[in-house]
Amino acid sequence: MKLRELIENRYSVRAYLSRPVEKEKIDYILECARLSPSACNLQPWIFYVVISEEVLDKVHMAYDREWYKTAPVNIIVCKNTSVSWKRSNTDGKDHGDIDAAIASEHICLAAHEIGLGTCWICNFNPEILSRALALPSDVEPIAIFPIGYINEEKSSYSEKKRNALSEVAKWI
Ligand SMILES: Cc1cc2nc3c(=O)[nH]c(=O)nc-3n(C[C@H](O)[C@H](O)[C@H](O)COP(=O)(O)O)c2cc1C
Repeated sequence: MKLRELIENRYSVRAYLSRPVEKEKIDYILECARLSPSACNLQPWIFYVVISEEVLDKVHMAYDREWYKTAPVNIIVCKNTSVSWKRSNTDGKDHGDIDAAIASEHICLAAHEIGLGTCWICNFNPEILSRALALPSDVEPIAIFPIGYINEEKSSYSEKKRNALSEVAKWI
């Protein structure tokens, strides 16, 4: 699939089959995330691949929505704040969130490319999620990605609602 087609056809999937996902497919997605660019190439991300019932249950407590509980895999993208690049000279801005977001979107596009669904989830309780994953204090959860085969009966692509290019691109 061409990049434009991938971008146009990807959508947030909110209905999953519990059918297991092959390990090679998860590895492919993780490899696409690992190859992401990052500020100063510091690669401050850590990808937690949650497959055990026990930890999935704990993750679900951090974001309690039925629609993703059937997904057999959750990838949690985290950033290590001890590693991420901080803008020097000026304001010290931590670029770890940006790095993690790039890797995250690679996860979304890779999953879509190989016929799996996913959805960004950031509206979780960070304390509960950090505890669920036993994260050290310098590691922050950025987003949860349920990964699974799409329940096509309950989920389908809908037209993208996006602001017009003329509104968002300023040629000066
Ligand atoms: C940073 C970010 C955080 C998001 N958090 C959530 C979330 O917590 N729960 C949810 O259902 N969707 C979440 N989404 C999905 C958006 O609602 C979705 O991407 C947007 O409505 C556009 O729809 P589309 O992905 O189908 O094109 C999030 C998306 C992004 C990029």
